[in-house]
Formats: sequence, C-alpha cells, structure tokens
Amino acid sequence: MTGYFKVEKIEGDIQVFTFGHADKAVNTLGEEPLRELNDLLDDLIEKKSAQGLIITSDKKDFIVGANIKEIEAFKSAEETRDGSLKMQGILNKLENLDIPTVAAIKGQCLGGGLELALACDWRVAEQSAKLALPEIQLGLIPGSGGTQRLPRLIGIQSALDMILTGKRIEGKKALKMGLVDAACHEKVLFKVAKTYALKKRSQKLKPKTKGLSDNITRFATESNPLGRKVMERKAREMVEKNTKGFYPAPFKALSAVFDGFEKKLEKGLELEAKLFGELSQTKESKSLIHLFHATTHAKKNPFESANKEVFKGEKTSLAGVIGSGFMGAGIATVLADKGVCSRLSDPNPESTSRALSGAYKYFTKKAKRKKIKPFQVDQKMAHISPGLNTNGFESTDVVIEAVFEDVALKQKILKEVEEKGHDRQIFASNTSALPIADIAAQSAHPERVLGMHFFSPVEKMPLLEIVVTDKTAEWATARAFELGQTMGKQIIIVKDSPGFYTTRALAFFMAEAALILVEGNKIEKIDAALTEFGFPVGPMTLMDEVGIDVGSHVLDTMKKAFADRVSIPDGLEAIKESGRLGRKNGKGFYEYHDGKKGDPDEGIYQLVPNWKASSLPTDEIIDRCALVFINESAHCLDEGVLNHPYDGDIGAVFGLGFPPFWGGPFKYVDHMGAKVIVDRLRGLADKYGKRFEPAKALVKMAEEGGKFFPEEN
Ligand code: NAI
Repeated sequence: MTGYFKVEKIEGDIQVFTFGHADKAVNTLGEEPLRELNDLLDDLIEKKSAQGLIITSDKKDFIVGANIKEIEAFKSAEETRDGSLKMQGILNKLENLDIPTVAAIKGQCLGGGLELALACDWRVAEQSAKLALPEIQLGLIPGSGGTQRLPRLIGIQSALDMILTGKRIEGKKALKMGLVDAACHEKVLFKVAKTYALKKRSQKLKPKTKGLSDNITRFATESNPLGRKVMERKAREMVEKNTKGFYPAPFKALSAVFDGFEKKLEKGLELEAKLFGELSQTKESKSLIHLFHATTHAKKNPFESANKEVFKGEKTSLAGVIGSGFMGAGIATVLADKGVCSRLSDPNPESTSRALSGAYKYFTKKAKRKKIKPFQVDQKMAHISPGLNTNGFESTDVVIEAVFEDVALKQKILKEVEEKGHDRQIFASNTSALPIADIAAQSAHPERVLGMHFFSPVEKMPLLEIVVTDKTAEWATARAFELGQTMGKQIIIVKDSPGFYTTRALAFFMAEAALILVEGNKIEKIDAALTEFGFPVGPMTLMDEVGIDVGSHVLDTMKKAFADRVSIPDGLEAIKESGRLGRKNGKGFYEYHDGKKGDPDEGIYQLVPNWKASSLPTDEIIDRCALVFINESAHCLDEGVLNHPYDGDIGAVFGLGFPPFWGGPFKYVDHMGAKVIVDRLRGLADKYGKRFEPAKALVKMAEEGGKFFPEEN
C-alpha cells in the first residue's frame, strides 16, 4: 500500500512530506510508510531537487509511534533487531541529507515519531504538542535511535528521565529542554517550520549540547567519563529500587544510553537495536503489550449506540453521592476534579466535613505540584454541594450510593431515590460484595440499577467494575460507562453475582493465604512469597488494609455462594473478635505504630487452634495463592461473570495488584501453557480440595492446546 505521504514543493524549493493516509485514523511508523519514506528520500538524494525538507502530518497528531502488531510479529530477538536496524537505516539517511530538515510537530509525537523528529536538524512544535518515548511502558526501549540521539541532544539526565518514565513533554517545556527549537501556536506551525528550512539552510548545526548549557554542574558531570560512571551507578540503584528487579527494560535502557554514549553513533545504534531485539522476546514485554491491547479493547463503550439514542451525546453533568465516608468522599473528589458537579449527602455532618477537607487537601496538593492552577482549588471545591439528605437529588443524572455495607439500608436508599427521581436517572451502588439483584429486589425500576464498584483510594486506583444484572438496561450501563470514562477510570463490565469478579478472586486469594497461616506458616513468610511473585504487597498485609472484619464478612458471603469450595480458616473469627481489625484500628496481622506498619503480631498464632509452626516451601505458597486466584478467574469466565479474558486481566492488574509483568491471570496461563496449569491445579486439588479442581475454561484450553489470546505472540 502506498499513499502515506503527500509530496509537494513549496516556495524556496522546499520539499514537504505530509504524513497521513486517507484510510488510517492515525499515523504509525510501520513497514509500509517507512518503505515509502525511504523511496522518497532516495528520490530526493538522486534528483538533488530541493533546498530543504519539512516533514509534517495532516492528522490530529504527528506520529503516535511504531506499529505494535509488527513488533509482535517478530519471532526472535535477531528478527526484531534486524527490523530495528532497517528503520535506523532510513532515519540515518534522513539525518545525512545535505539539506536542512525540519519536523513540524503537532499533537502527539511518540516513540518512533519522536525518533524520526530527532533525525531531523530542527524540530518545531505546537505549544501543546506532546513528545515522548513511551516504549518502556511496553517493556521495551526506543529502537530507532531514541536512546542515542536524545542524550546527545538534551543531555543524559533529561534523556533518561524521558526514556525511563515514558513521560509526555509539552511543546513549551520541550523548548526549554532543548528538545525542540521552537514552540508556537498551531496556526503558525508551518510558517515557523518554513523559516527554519530556509533560514538555517546555510548553518546546519547539530545542536548537540543545547540542553546542557543551562546547567553547568550537570554538564560537567555528563561531559567526563568518570562523572558518567557515577551517574550510571546512581541510576542503576534507582532503577533497582523502583522495579524490584522485575522489569529488564529499564536496565537495558541504561546500558543503551551509557554504553552508547561512549561509542560513535553508528555503534551506539547497533547496541540499541540488539538490546531492543532481546527485550521484544521477554515475557515482561509481551505481558505489557498484552495489557496495552486489553486496555485499548476496554476503552470502547459497548453500548455506545444505546448511549447515543437515549442521551444524544449529552454527558453526565450532575451526580448524587450518598454517603460521605471513605468511598463517597473519594468519588465526589474525583467527580469534582473531572468537572462533574455532585450533591453529597450524609446524615452525619462530621463525615461530610472530613470528606470536604480531604478533597481540599487533595486539590491543594495538586496545585502545589503544579498539576492545576491555584485558583482551580476553590473552583473544583465548588463542584461539591454537601447536604444532610437527598433533597435536590431528583435532578441528578446518576446517583452513586456508598453507605454502609448493609443490604436493607441500601434498599431503603434506593427506594427513596426512585420515588423522587426521573426516568433517565440511574442508581449505582458502590457495594463491594452484595449482589446488585438483592439491592434491587424491591426496586420499581430495576432496569436503572447497577453497580459501580470503585476501589480505594478512589483518587488513585484506576479500576471501575460496572456490575449489571439481567434487568439492567443497556442505556443505563452506557451511562455508567460514560461517567466512568469521564472520571478517568479503566472500566470492566461484569455480570452480577456474589463478589462480582474482583472481590471474588481476591477473597479466594486471601482465604488461601489465611489457610496457609492456619497450617503453621508465619505471616511474614506468606507475604514475602507473594511479593516475590510480584504482588505489591502480600495477602496478609492486604487483609489488614481491607479490614479483617470486612474480609471475614466477604468470606461469609462467598461461603454462602460457593459452599463446595470455600473454607473459612479456623481462628479467623477469633482474630476478629480479639479486636484486630487491621490498619484502621492499629491492630491486625501486623502491629501498627502511629499509622506505620511494624512487625507481625505474634499473638495471632495463639488465636489459631492447634497452631504449630511448620514450613511450606515458598513455591507452594505462591502456587496455592496464585493458582486459586487464576482458577476462580476462569470460573468467572465459565459463568459469564466475565465477558472476555481481557476483562479478567484488566480487573486483576488494575484493581487487585496482580503483577503487570505477568499480564494478568489469563495471560499467565498463556505464558505457562494451559496444560501445565491444569496439571498443577489437579495436583493441588488432590492435596487440598475442590477449590483447586480446574475450571472448565482451563481444561478445554489444555485439551485443545489453545490460548486465551491466540492472536498475541
Ligand atoms: P464508611 O463507613 O467510610 O462510610 C459510610 C458512610 O455512609 C458514613 O459516612 C455514614 O454516615 C454514611 N451513611 C450511613 N447511612 C446513611 C444514609 N442513610 N444516608 C447517607 N449516608 C449514610 O464506608 P466506606 O468504606 O466508604 O464504604 C461504603 C461502601 O463502599 C460500602 O458498601 C463498602 O462495601 C463499599 N466499598 C468500600 C471499599 C473500601 O475499601 N472501603 C472499597 C469498595 C467498596
């Protein structure tokens, strides 16, 4: 396919390549456009027909990156390396043209897009353009010169900051850093680009040290080999601390940047391509790319047509939040942050006052960090209207209930809201485990009722689990989805059932850990095993965070629903009755001093009948906890609680801390092979019981030798 670049000559003998295929929504640097660019460059060299070159785009964005599918298709490190060398060759050709070259950058300029721009002499960007090398978020490093040209342009420190985080730099800041040569209003972008292509023609300087000139100390450090060694050691220590050694890409990025800096550009590029190739075949990269696909899939509102038909594109502008406790406060804060007004009702004024001061603190912190302007603090606060009752709720579009976890109370509140509400108002419960159908049991309009299960703290946790019953209308789900997206959440839609997906998987996971404890294993050992697997905290710590009373209540609900495979650990009741509720009252599986977690509470062991120290191997602790989680996820797929394995992986990674480098429970099965998992589960079932009997989805996959994500490499 051709037609990726429109080619024209403008006054002053300037050649313009405008990227933008008529059939493509965005510009990605795949094989086809690169081949076309290569031919165009050859033509330019051969004919010597132009005095300058501008590369720009006629889409909203300049270039959003490489074509991920093409990277995935490479079957070996060598194949990927060769692909990378090929693209480098084209960008080298661009860099070596003997006429001035200018990248005119609008919108997003990401990954390969920025690498192309770096191969130009000049970069001119819109003030609001966003420039980044986000490869690290896919477990990769830039493979087309980013790790070599960027440090040479803006200095090692600034380059590492971009390469190791993937952060987006706005045009204005990019100018300060020396990443671009001009930042201007979009209307004059092309004009400015033209002046660069004309004016600087005779002075094609390589602005190698531009970003460094403003920082003499840094310059001194970076410009000598000893200084660079010190920098590298410090950077390695920081990466080790941040990644806990779970991700190889940041380490390879450091090698590419530091080792490459010592070499000629050509050798540095070779090194970069080799490291890029190696990373492309790692499970970490495959998992992160998988999550990229999963989240892209989940961005689409599945009921968009219902949304359009009923709401005609109008977004939720007014919400009602009932209960101003921990969760209600967080929900109202995020709504206000995203520009949605809310009424916040709670009969307890102290709770509401805590909620408002929490929101104020949150916005003030944001202002201090320059994420918002100082005047926006009051502006955002004005979005929340507190009250003691639900007066005024009749005009709200969505009501979110976050009162105590008590079905009768939730039913009463639903009735009160329904009596006053209009016929396009939806009622969403933030219950963590109660079936939505129970809450809606006496509802006059069950089609308007669903669950919007947020995670704590709402301001930080990305996941929203929307829970629908068989009576929930599509337009109501569409409404909740639209509001969730406005709130910036990663959304999964699941079928109503006890514990939905997330609470259920988590309950089995934590119950398994508690059973292991009861068998004689120490608290810290269980936690250490699961953090070794990659969870951010272990299950015992997590139980303290959730609250032992809450955890035990959820487990009772699970026991009722799945009696054949839930065992309540002996002694859990006694632990709760001893007043150990977790972090919230400073006593749990761990001791807490002034809110800080201390040592494990040895007193716990005395509360477990016949507790006798024993030592289960770490591998078996990991296997039991991780596999019970995975198996329950597969049961959720069997039962239609999950619509797609993607949802299971998103829910587990973004809501429950399942290690992203495994890609989620379903991707984990694909990594290991379903047969291996089923065999391991059967072995555990023989030893520990029915909860390990493999779910149908796993058995089927094992028998067919299939994968949950066959289209992924
Ligand atoms: P909380 O105890 O902090 O807050 C509950 C609030 O509801 C209190 O401020 C209380 O005064 C208020 N309330 C009681 N009766 C009311 C009424 N008739 N009208 C208005 N407000 C009333 O509880 P939290 O933690 O905020 O939990 C709320 C809901 O969210 C529960 O259903 C819980 O299961 C669920 N949830 C909690 C999570 C957590 O981590 N805390 C996570 C996800 C869901």
